[in-house]
Amino acid sequence: MTTSPLENLHEETAQLLARIESLDSIDALVEAEPFIIGKRSVLSTMQKSLGGLEPDARRDAGAQLQEARRNVEDALSRRRAHLAELARRTQLEKDRLDLGDVVVSSVRWPATTGHASLVASTQRELEDVFVAMGFTVSDGPEVESDWYNFEALNIPPAHPARGMWDTFYVELGEPETVVLRTHTSPTQIHLMESAVATSSLPIHSVMPGRCFRRDTPDARHLATFHQIEGLVVDRGITFADLAGVIETFTQAYFGTDISSRLRPAYFPFTEPSAEFEVTCTICRGEGCRTCSHTGWIELGGCGVLDPAVLSAVGIDGDEWSGFAFGFGIDRCAQMRHQIADMRALIENDVRFLEQFS
Ligand code: DAH
Repeated sequence: MTTSPLENLHEETAQLLARIESLDSIDALVEAEPFIIGKRSVLSTMQKSLGGLEPDARRDAGAQLQEARRNVEDALSRRRAHLAELARRTQLEKDRLDLGDVVVSSVRWPATTGHASLVASTQRELEDVFVAMGFTVSDGPEVESDWYNFEALNIPPAHPARGMWDTFYVELGEPETVVLRTHTSPTQIHLMESAVATSSLPIHSVMPGRCFRRDTPDARHLATFHQIEGLVVDRGITFADLAGVIETFTQAYFGTDISSRLRPAYFPFTEPSAEFEVTCTICRGEGCRTCSHTGWIELGGCGVLDPAVLSAVGIDGDEWSGFAFGFGIDRCAQMRHQIADMRALIENDVRFLEQFS
């Protein structure tokens, strides 16, 4: 009796299915596939041996083999899908980002506390310099009436000098009567008024604060900026006192290698008036883009109080005289720290801010 070529079919199929289950990666599956189902497989060998059978027996055996092959193929494709899913999950697990993780080795660790902005710390330093010279520190409102910002400072309505300040008007009351202060000078008026009301002359005070102008920002200008105003009202005050204060301030704040100069200028509230300039620290006076190639940077204005201002607040100009000045805090910071473009002060770039912690 001849043995059937399919005698071991069940056993072989069971072995193939077990082998398929033991494949643990797609790579292993791809490698084993030809031996499980391809030309080199037991099933193919069995297929070839069917040739010698009687037609009926061959048909039966063929059908059995076909079924076994289908089972093996199904098992193989299920295993393939399972291994692919496994690989996908492993990758996902690897890529997972734990947002609750604390990255201990990050550059920003340990966390730092914030610090005052360069403008705020400059304001404090300037106040310190003036306090050391015997000044008090006062402040005033950022929204002003036309009277404080202009009229009391000897700038009547429609006076051409109003063109010196590009004003933001606030929609309040009559048109053009309420403004965002264009300079800190209106605080002088508040201070003199209250000194008159409380009979507390003389005044030696500085008034730092935020100002606003309809300016297009550039290397030396911001639309929102800071000034520090100075006011002295006393007996026998002259321009020489003013020049002495400006010189003392420059040396104390910028150091002795920076020169300052006063140039004749016009301001409606002082007579005589001057512009106060320092050597441009970006180019050390050589001339550059920041100083418009002049070698000098204007910090502000100053002068002897105009009698019209004293009389606007009811101070007797025969008994009292005084001087005033007002200059840019942002400009002082810019020159002290050689910042070529003032816009860096408001851009909030941490790399810039961190230099001044
Ligand atoms: N308020 C002027 C400005 O912003 C600067 C100024 C000039 C202030 C002369 C003064 C002064 O107190 O006396 O342009």
